[in-house]
Parts: sequence; C-alpha cells; structure tokens
Amino acid sequence: MEKSKNKILAIESSCDECSASVVSASDFPELVSIHSNQIFSQIDLHKKYGGVVPEIASRNHLDMLNPVIEESLKKAKTSFAELTAVAVTNGPGLIGALLVGLSAAKAISYSLNIPLITVDHLQGHIHSLFIAGQSNGFDKAKHKLPLLICLVSGGHTNLYLLKNLPPEKLDLTLLSSSRDDAAGEAFDKTAKLLGLPYPGGIWIDQYSKNGNKKAYNFPRPLLNEGLEFSFSGLKTSVLNQLKTDGYTPHIFGNVDESKLPRGQALANYCASIQEAICETIFHKIQSAIHQTGAQTLAVVGGVSANSRLKELLKTQCNLPVITPDGQYCTDNAAMIGAAAFFQFVRNDVLKSKQIFSANAYSS
Ligand code: KG4
Ligand code: ZN
Repeated sequence: MEKSKNKILAIESSCDECSASVVSASDFPELVSIHSNQIFSQIDLHKKYGGVVPEIASRNHLDMLNPVIEESLKKAKTSFAELTAVAVTNGPGLIGALLVGLSAAKAISYSLNIPLITVDHLQGHIHSLFIAGQSNGFDKAKHKLPLLICLVSGGHTNLYLLKNLPPEKLDLTLLSSSRDDAAGEAFDKTAKLLGLPYPGGIWIDQYSKNGNKKAYNFPRPLLNEGLEFSFSGLKTSVLNQLKTDGYTPHIFGNVDESKLPRGQALANYCASIQEAICETIFHKIQSAIHQTGAQTLAVVGGVSANSRLKELLKTQCNLPVITPDGQYCTDNAAMIGAAAFFQFVRNDVLKSKQIFSANAYSS
C-alpha cells in the first residue's frame, strides 16, 4: 500500500470478540478496502457459563488485544509508523471490554501522534454494507436508494431507512426496534432452555435443518401492529411447551440430556423456534418496505447469518437484498474500520489532547 492511501487501524472489543483490522480507500468513494480482519472469539471461554461473563471478557481482551493488533498489522503488511489514524468502538457494549480497546487506541493515537476515531458499534454493523469485494455487497449500479436496513444482532433488532451513501454522514432514520429482547437474544435464550451451547443462534440454525418448522406454533408477537418487535414472550412459550411435553428446561448448571428433547424432537423445537423468529423479522421487513417505498433491502448483524432468514429473503422478497459476507456479520473490526474511514474523510476525529475526552458508553 502506498503512503498516499490513508491507512486506519480499527479495534473492536465491545463484547466477546477481540478484533483488529487495517482499512484504506477502495476504488469506489462509497466503499472501503479491507487489508486484514483478525478476530479472536472468546466463545469457548464463556460457553460453560451459558453467556458472556463481563469480567472474563475484559481480562481476555487485555491478554489478546496486543497479539491480535500485531497479527492484523502483519497480515496487512503495515507498520505502526504507516498508520494515518486509529479507530475504536467506544459503545454500546460491556464497559470493561470497551475500555480495553479504547485505552489501547488512545495510547496508539497519543504515541504516534495520529488522530483517534471513536465509532458507535451500530454504525459499524451498518457500515459492514460498505466494505468492498463482498459476494453480495452494495453495488451503486444495482442498488437504488432509499435502503431499508434491518440490523439483527445479539443486542439489537432495529429497522432503519437510509437515504444517502458514504462518505457523507449517513442520513439514517430509525423506524423501529425491539421493546424487549433482541432477535439474537431470543435465539440464545431459547437455545439455553434446550441445553444448547452459547451462543445458541448458530446451533438452532444447525439443528433446524432436519426439523419440522410447523411442529410448534410459537408466538409471532405484534405481527400486525406496526414495525416494533417483541421477542421476550418466546422463551416463556418454549419453557411451557417443554414442560407440557414432559421435559425439564435447562436453566443453569450441567445439562441433563436425558431430560431434554434430542434427535428429531430437538430438530422440531429448533425449526419451530427459528421459524417464529425469522417469520416475524421477515413480516416486519415486508411492512417496512410497503410503508417506506424502500428500493433495496440490507440485513446486517449476527442473525443475518441465519440460513432460514437468508432463504426467506432470497425466495420471498421482491427487492434486491444485500447481506455482508459471514466474517462481517458477527462482531469484527473491519466494519468499525469502514465507519471510521468515512469519519476520517469528514474530519470527524479527535486530535492531540482531545483524545483524553473520549469515553466508553454501555448503552
Ligand atoms: O452481531 P453479533 O456478533 O453481536 C452483537 O452485536 O450482538 O451477533 C451475535 C448474535 C448472537 O445472538 C448469535 O446467536 C446470533 O448473532 N447468530 C445467529 C447465527 N449466527 C450468529 N443467530 C441465528 N442464526 C445464526 N446462524
Ligand atoms: Zn455487534
């Protein structure tokens, strides 16, 4: 990479992924080029607790961040001296985990005398759309505005309407969110009741493949009541169904497989849960398209990796659909780098002593 290309190191440590990425301009003004995207996932550390333990997450970020940054620079064939700026997620997320990334980014910024760019995690997920070279990414020639964006992750279920493109500051309107649990949370909490490992979304997806999605009619809340989501009732419904079927829902401790559905019975539970969540998301997307006149649909965040949601989007949506590549769906620093790159272009950065004012926020 030549010096004329501004190279930004981005750091993401808001939850249980420790990630660093090097990004720069692409051949298109609305897209960013990714040179590396190193991700260390802490899933194995948190699995036995059935969810992310904040203190364990922070301590592991302390151990892993430096090697992850070094690996990311090495992969991008970039030295610290070649960096033009450093970017970091400063919220929302786990406060201790965020502070590890933010402190490292401040130190890099101060010692190299380069700007610090603080990035909102949700802006990061949205900017995963504007990463160059993706198999189903944004293409200005094919994808017309306005763009309906569905952000479905472990912490959020948001619908937005986007009316412009980077490098401009995004003109985003939040259309709706979840009143309670997020879609990913609904996957993870119901998976836990079935005694499946954390994070459960991917396991429900996996076991659903051989299941009957009509085996149980789990709730599709607020289906015809506006664009808001509500997923908290799903776990109670699954809990009650398990008890009705004579099982003992898993709450904590060791999983007693003999008291839980396994084989075909597990597949049927998973397929029915997945159908309830995906059908609800898809229905709200259809309503939002109808209400807004969106010309293109984009789905981002961890749950966008779900195979049933992808199938519904592919077969039943009559708009062009954009989804980020797998590595940019779940938490990663490349998407933070993409958002940061455009902030840098707009001079939305912190310089010299301003960097000390940067703080982390949890929600
Ligand atoms: O975007 P993400 O990595 O982190 C947050 O910002 O929350 O999303 C993580 C969420 C988890 O709830 C996980 O279970 C879910 O994404 N997830 C999936 C799949 N892969 C990840 N949910 C359903 N199906 C999948 N294949
Ligand atoms: Zn995320």
